[in-house]
Amino acid sequence: MVTRVDLENTYEKAKAAVAAATSLQQLDQVRVEYLGKRGKITSVLKTLGRLTPEERKEIGQVANKVRQNLEGDIKEKQEELSSEEVIKRLAAESVDITLPGREHVYGRRHLISQVIKEITDIFLGLGYKVAEGPEVELDYYNFKALNTPADHPARSLQDTFYIRKAGAHPADNDIVLRTHTSPVQIRVMKSQKPPVYIIAPGRAFRRDVPDPTHSPMFHQVEGLAVDKGITFGDLKGTLEEFSRQMFGRESQVRVVARESFEAGIAEGGQQIRLRPHFFPFTEPSAEVDVRCFACGGVGCRICGSGWLEILGAGMVDPNVLIEVGYNPEEVSGFAFGMGVERIAMLLYGVPDIRMFFENDLRFVKQF
Ligand code: DAH
Repeated sequence: MVTRVDLENTYEKAKAAVAAATSLQQLDQVRVEYLGKRGKITSVLKTLGRLTPEERKEIGQVANKVRQNLEGDIKEKQEELSSEEVIKRLAAESVDITLPGREHVYGRRHLISQVIKEITDIFLGLGYKVAEGPEVELDYYNFKALNTPADHPARSLQDTFYIRKAGAHPADNDIVLRTHTSPVQIRVMKSQKPPVYIIAPGRAFRRDVPDPTHSPMFHQVEGLAVDKGITFGDLKGTLEEFSRQMFGRESQVRVVARESFEAGIAEGGQQIRLRPHFFPFTEPSAEVDVRCFACGGVGCRICGSGWLEILGAGMVDPNVLIEVGYNPEEVSGFAFGMGVERIAMLLYGVPDIRMFFENDLRFVKQF
């Protein structure tokens, strides 16, 4: 049988264990050990029935007292430990304001995006609106509606990425990655009546072998103006204004005779030249070159001839106007398509088009 002294000793041990607990978890172990279902004090209380009434009274009183005291001790210790734990947690979570801050790395616009924005801003200033079209395009918009016949070399497998629907016949080549931004011209004209003044920046794709001036994916900005009485003079004036703003005040567009550009003759101050060319969707057509940034027009690895072609242009072919339902007797127009990478190379002296897409941060971060 347990005596009063036994109980008091047990209490002293329990009290010491409570005092020694350093965590709430440890404290709970102590509680279970003494006050749990099979705890040392609980089991004394459970055996009270077997005692004589006098014993039961005495031991019962002591045991209950011990239980109450111990519960009180545990509660007190519990409060102490939980506030300690809160303090510890707060200390762990607190901010050390003497630590150096974490650096946020800011991104920036890619040079190509910057140049597209510069070009776009110039034309917005001239009253143009921005239009867009899909990069995966129908043959109809990319070629056929642009007066480009089935046997045109641009349509060959060597030049164009064709996309075939699953299970389609190999000859079923009606979906392409657009080879230029010109199909946007057709989409815009088919969706509205003249006058039209739009530019369409975007990606184009060709099966080109990468070299310093070619990349199978590149960017163009297309331009289209259709209105009553538009002439080649409007095209020239527009390009002149564009190149003044883009390349500097002294830029002058000269229409050069075939003989003089073939002979490589550059007049003083001439930075840009417009020379005859052929495009199926314009008549007459021209190509526009800018004097090479690297060699100044002498001819080098980058340009070959001393000049870099930056755009194609011309008067919209009447066949194209008819295709979209415009009347070539009433309206006329000019169009152009410029190579964004070429222009960026000229302006920023980038020697190789591949550098734009290698994503080397040492290059990208410079602009
Ligand atoms: N689409 C032509 C190309 O990618 C460039 C071009 C030429 C666009 C004449 C035009 C244009 O709008 O009128 O080579």
